[in-house]
Amino acid sequence: MSMSMVFSTFSLFSFFFHIALLSNLCFGAGPRVHTDLHVSYQTLSPLGVPQRVIAINGNFPGQPINVTTNDNLYVNVFNELDEDLLITWPGVQMKRNAWSDGVLGTNCPIPPKWNWTYKFQVKDQIGSFYYFPSLNFQKASGGFGPFVINNRDIIPIPFAQPENDIFIMIGDWYTQNHTALRATLDSGKALGIPDGVLINGKGPYQYNATLVPGGIQHTQIDVEPGKTYRVRVHHVGISTTLNFRIQNHNLLLVETEGRYTIQTNYSNFDIHAGQSYSFLVSTDQNASADYYIVASARFVNESLWQKVTGVAVLHYKNSMGPATGPLPPPPDDTYYKDFSINQARSVRQNTSASGPRPNPQGSYKYGSVNITDTYVLNIVPPVTINGSTRATINGVSFRKPVVPFRLADKHNINGTYKLDFPIKPVNTTPVLDISLINATFRAFVEIVLQNNDTTIQNFHLDGQSFYVVGMNYGIWSEKSRGSYNKWDAISRCTTQVYPGGWTAILVAIDNVGYWNLRSENLDRWYLGQETYMKVINPEENGRTELGPPANVLYCGPLHYLQK
Ligand SMILES: *[C@@H]1O[C@H](CO)[C@@H](O)[C@H](O)[C@H]1NC(C)=O
Ligand SMILES: *[C@@H]1O[C@H](CO)[C@@H](O)[C@H](O)[C@H]1NC(C)=O
Ligand SMILES: *[C@@H]1O[C@H](CO)[C@@H](O)[C@H](O)[C@H]1NC(C)=O
Ligand SMILES: *[C@@H]1O[C@H](CO)[C@@H](O)[C@H](O)[C@H]1NC(C)=O
Ligand SMILES: *[C@@H]1O[C@H](CO)[C@@H](O)[C@H](O)[C@H]1NC(C)=O
Ligand SMILES: *[C@@H]1O[C@H](CO)[C@@H](O)[C@H](O)[C@H]1NC(C)=O
Ligand SMILES: *[C@@H]1O[C@H](CO)[C@@H](O)[C@H](O)[C@H]1NC(C)=O
Ligand SMILES: *[C@@H]1O[C@H](CO)[C@@H](O)[C@H](O)[C@H]1NC(C)=O
Ligand SMILES: *[C@@H]1O[C@H](CO)[C@@H](O)[C@H](O)[C@H]1NC(C)=O
Ligand SMILES: *[C@@H]1O[C@H](CO)[C@@H](O)[C@H](O)[C@H]1NC(C)=O
Ligand SMILES: *[C@@H]1O[C@H](CO)[C@@H](O)[C@H](O)[C@H]1NC(C)=O
Ligand SMILES: *[C@@H]1O[C@H](CO)[C@@H](O)[C@H](O)[C@H]1NC(C)=O
Repeated sequence: MSMSMVFSTFSLFSFFFHIALLSNLCFGAGPRVHTDLHVSYQTLSPLGVPQRVIAINGNFPGQPINVTTNDNLYVNVFNELDEDLLITWPGVQMKRNAWSDGVLGTNCPIPPKWNWTYKFQVKDQIGSFYYFPSLNFQKASGGFGPFVINNRDIIPIPFAQPENDIFIMIGDWYTQNHTALRATLDSGKALGIPDGVLINGKGPYQYNATLVPGGIQHTQIDVEPGKTYRVRVHHVGISTTLNFRIQNHNLLLVETEGRYTIQTNYSNFDIHAGQSYSFLVSTDQNASADYYIVASARFVNESLWQKVTGVAVLHYKNSMGPATGPLPPPPDDTYYKDFSINQARSVRQNTSASGPRPNPQGSYKYGSVNITDTYVLNIVPPVTINGSTRATINGVSFRKPVVPFRLADKHNINGTYKLDFPIKPVNTTPVLDISLINATFRAFVEIVLQNNDTTIQNFHLDGQSFYVVGMNYGIWSEKSRGSYNKWDAISRCTTQVYPGGWTAILVAIDNVGYWNLRSENLDRWYLGQETYMKVINPEENGRTELGPPANVLYCGPLHYLQK
């Protein structure tokens, strides 16, 4: 089968990488990979209503960035929007180099009509990630695309080489543009029920004429019978958990956010906002008809949320007709309330598989490392601070920084941030502040996320991945440690926290920089549910942290330095 069939939904390939086989003295040995990302508006009608979306090089969603461990990337981002822009790459760890992380605490925004080249090495990582615009709620309009880091050829992967990659980007979607959605949040209102779910930028297949109006384009994935494909699924939406399933096909989970998992078949899988998974899918069914690919809203009143369902089709080359009949059913939690949390607990790492290096990915025995610090972060529903609706972590709602923190340090600009973030719940009045966690370099930190909200929450940490050792309903206490998985917990960068429950993660703080810890629910993030961990090596000798790049952008009190 041809590549263009697999990627038809991305209108590839206007996009090329220029690989120079030179080693790069700047940051690491390994080939250089150059690519341009032109970020611009486009008018499309994914749900039948014309709206302004954000395209990458004219494509919505953007094309995959496809690189190999140790490559040195030069990604030249052209801001063709009418507002500031930063692209971020969650899960891509930016080792020693927060200068290209692409969030406000690490980078000055790229002004409209400007371009700026991100320079970073993808070091000692493999797996499925994605990129998206981090400012101003722009992700609600698009600007995202897959980001794949491949193994070096000499490192085996723990399954037979699949026929091809298939990229599937799912997400809850509003027909209002991101500026309108921002205005809703600014006025203190909630966004309400999304207008639908997009799969690869397109609306649902008309599986039912009452529920899906005519004239909506859907995504079709073309496959050959008798093959195995690696399906990389990314949740690029706003906040709604989506149950992903392919009619009559097993999803063999093999990897999530850079770790190979114990290979397990699922008939459907809950994917939370911001998460990425790889499944192997075998085209082992008869081709009597096409098959539905479904992403439907979870933990909601399904009769009210029926339209919040993404439907694409899996089309065998020898298919004898369109998909018909009802969609494959979602899991029913009425009688099995723990279905989702148990499924999450079943995602464990294959400790014997090689990761980016030849040694087994389980060789770091995280379960026997002593915990040096414990943060307990309490997440509550939005509150009112100075008359505005804001979201908090331990009573602090984050204010937008005016200058990146490390840049402020380097230029002795004092007072742009505080280091007093409460790492335990507090009983004080919620505040709006630029308050960071003063983390300790080479510490081994336990972070407990306690969700006192009534909806599911998702959290992400930049700069290093973490072990998801425990997850349960109720209030976390020290006794909860007895239930931790100390052997084969998955290591990843984004985790869900069930309402009225907690998730415990362990993280080795080994990457110097300022790292964003945030809600991956876009509305909560926008309302201030984030902070940063400051990680400085007190004995910095130029080995654990790179200096600012030659093209560093300046803003705020340092704006005068911009050439
Ligand atoms: C990505 O790169 C790898 C290694 O160079 C190649 O085998 C694969 O076909 C590429 N995938 C895509 C989607 O371009
Ligand atoms: C902007 O793009 C041009 C090439 O089009 C490049 O030479 C220049 O370095 C880029 N600017 C920055 C700041 O990266
Ligand atoms: C965004 O949506 C708002 C509200 O519907 C509308 O007024 C505005 O024109 C839209 N912007 C663009 C560029 O489409
Ligand atoms: C389409 O959906 C409506 C509303 O849920 C339902 O009543 C109807 O039976 C469905 N039609 C078919 C053909 O499944
Ligand atoms: C998963 O299901 C496929 C059939 O779809 C089967 O061939 C395979 O053996 C199963 N693998 C595991 C690990 O259960
Ligand atoms: C093909 O598979 C479907 C689903 O398992 C089954 O209902 C149908 O009878 C099969 N058709 C043929 C021709 O084998
Ligand atoms: C779901 O919404 C429908 C329509 O508003 C309502 O009749 C029903 O009671 C709701 N179901 C639940 C379980 O809340
Ligand atoms: C774990 O990875 C090894 C390759 O190192 C593979 O042979 C094995 O099947 C994998 N086990 C599971 C349970 O996925
Ligand atoms: C961990 O802590 C225990 C008890 O406090 C101590 O005996 C042990 O040496 C520590 N291990 C390491 C690797 O520091
Ligand atoms: C900022 O603080 C540092 C260390 O306390 C001090 O040396 C420096 O003079 C201060 N800079 C300004 C502009 O006040
Ligand atoms: C932050 O932590 C470092 C040690 O990692 C310590 O030297 C410093 O005093 C702390 N700063 C504040 C403001 O607590
Ligand atoms: C939030 O915390 C309060 C006080 O501990 C508790 O009564 C309530 O049940 C919690 N709600 C949720 C959704 O966790």
